Amino acid sequence: MQCARCHIRPGRGRAIAPELGHFAADAQEIIRRPDYHGQATTAAQYIYESILNPNAYVLPPFGDLTPDSSSIMPKDFSQRLNETEIENLVTYLLTLH
Ligand code: HEC
Repeated sequence: MQCARCHIRPGRGRAIAPELGHFAADAQEIIRRPDYHGQATTAAQYIYESILNPNAYVLPPFGDLTPDSSSIMPKDFSQRLNETEIENLVTYLLTLH
């Protein structure tokens, strides 16, 4: 699904994107930040939002990768993945620690 092209499992590889792990805890913290202006109120919603609308909140310092501070995440996952696939993905990501 290409996620691993940028995201790595904890402890490995390059820092081009945040590690896909400890999301459940991180997301709880992120959605309370003063500079978070997305719609999510739960960790699961935040992960949905991050996949379907990466620009809703660009995690610092990864905005530095682009001149306009947008996310380098592909913006077309909502077309490439169906609802079940996205649901499974979010469920899986929430189990990573
Ligand atoms: C082109 C590289 C790239 C690919 C491919 C990619 N991502 Fe990302 N992703 C990033 C970067 C960079 C960020 C941090 C900036 C941001 O918040 O958008 C990020 C952020 C995220 C976040 C939010 C992380 C946080 O703690 O705020 C989630 C969740 C996520 N990606 C999931 C995925 C999933 C699932 C896939 C595959 C379906 C994927 N990404 C594919 C680069 C990528």
